[in-house]
Amino acid sequence: MTHAYENELRARFGLDFELDVQPGVEPGGEVPDEPWLRQELTRRTHRRYGNRAVPDALVRLLLAAAFSASSKSDFQQASVLWLKDRARRDRLAALFPDMPWIGSAPVFLVFLGDSRRLERIGQLRGHALDNGALEGFFNATVDAALALQTCVLAAETLGLGTCPISVLRNRIAAVGEILELPDKVFPVAGLCLGYPAQSGFVSMRLPLEASVHVDRYDDSGLQAAVDGYDRRRDARHSIGDRQRAPERFGTAGFYGWSEDKGRQAVTPEGVGFATWLKAHGFTLDEPEDGPV
Ligand SMILES: Cc1cc2nc3c(=O)[nH]c(=O)nc-3n(C[C@H](O)[C@H](O)[C@H](O)COP(=O)(O)O)c2cc1C
Repeated sequence: MTHAYENELRARFGLDFELDVQPGVEPGGEVPDEPWLRQELTRRTHRRYGNRAVPDALVRLLLAAAFSASSKSDFQQASVLWLKDRARRDRLAALFPDMPWIGSAPVFLVFLGDSRRLERIGQLRGHALDNGALEGFFNATVDAALALQTCVLAAETLGLGTCPISVLRNRIAAVGEILELPDKVFPVAGLCLGYPAQSGFVSMRLPLEASVHVDRYDDSGLQAAVDGYDRRRDARHSIGDRQRAPERFGTAGFYGWSEDKGRQAVTPEGVGFATWLKAHGFTLDEPEDGPV
């Protein structure tokens, strides 16, 4: 069946993409042609930005959009730190010389999980509560991530480019100090923001067969799905001779996305994050049993 998103879906998945669940069996029905969705299907991260300034009013509008994201229990446990002070930004950027966009992006925001505010609100109303268990941490993380992605989509809708920055957590002690974060407030990710200097490219995604499960989880077709994906992705953007740590892993005859991500994931990230959280008010335990 042809549909309005053929080109965008091919760009995103590298294959002719059927919208029908069972082609030929189940009628697909009408699919509305929505320009915003085309843009969303071909969205991309940008790490290089032009000189065009991003006015504060625009940033505030994007932040308003970000905080329009849904929020677990309406607890509203996301916060943002808008890093305007140049000296402080430079100190932060100096921690990550491999990612110069942290320092060069016209705007830099840090999306924070904020488990502190709910505790303070409880105190204001005379309800003592400890929000440092895993549930409090998790809910604040999800809220911050939703706000982050809502900000990304709003920015992209207005022609801006963005790059989330979770590498902050790899140097959490130094980052926490530079940002002067109080207990129970932690960075989920930074966000670079600016007008893109280049058009960028669509990063191909795994096919829905690998990531969508109907009625029950079934990953029996994973290997075939990943093999096919590796080949399609390689045909578009080959990693080529940029193999990761060949001195450690050897040189692969065919080096696709899955080999690259397997190698990448072997090296742990976020070392020290749990320790830092526990030193800053979180137990990350089960919550105390109580009335539900
Ligand atoms: C939570 C999160 C953290 C990320 N952290 C970084 C980062 O620290 N540095 C970076 O350059 N890109 C970072 N990215 C961008 C991803 O590398 C990018 O989204 C991914 O390669 C897919 O590309 P696309 O967004 O263009 O589809 C992050 C993305 C997300 C969602």
